[in-house]
Amino acid sequence: MDSQALIQEAILAREQSYSPYSNFMVGAALLGKSGCVYRGCNIENAAYTPTNCAERTAFFKALSEGECEFTAIAIAGWPKNGKPVFANPGGAYPCGVCRQVMMEFCNPESFTIIIAHNSNDFTAHTLAELMPHGFGPDNLK
Ligand code: THU
Repeated sequence: MDSQALIQEAILAREQSYSPYSNFMVGAALLGKSGCVYRGCNIENAAYTPTNCAERTAFFKALSEGECEFTAIAIAGWPKNGKPVFANPGGAYPCGVCRQVMMEFCNPESFTIIIAHNSNDFTAHTLAELMPHGFGPDNLK
């Protein structure tokens, strides 16, 4: 599956966002090594701290279904009533907590994080680029 197709999945995932407090709708599409795609959206909470980001929703769905090796994730996030490229020119980069979850299950040198700016425009980074000197399972060996 190419980057554009994974972004389309993330854009569809974003439609399920439950974000009445921030009105910032995020969707993620996580590509497993099996070829399966797992969609996730952000899910907010009146108590705020239980909020789950779109990326972690996708990871926890995949892991709980038995998929535990991953190739790439596409992320599509912009405000509910905003236009993607104008409202949020940098795109929605994953938060620190989500990057740490990725460190647990992904090879930082090869796992690819695709940030959608709109359906035709994106930036791709490795996890190592977004999480330099990250702490992961290998550090405990
Ligand atoms: N959010 C995500 O789902 N992923 C990100 O990469 C950044 C932030 C969500 C959390 C919260 O529901 C809303 O965006 C505003 O922070």
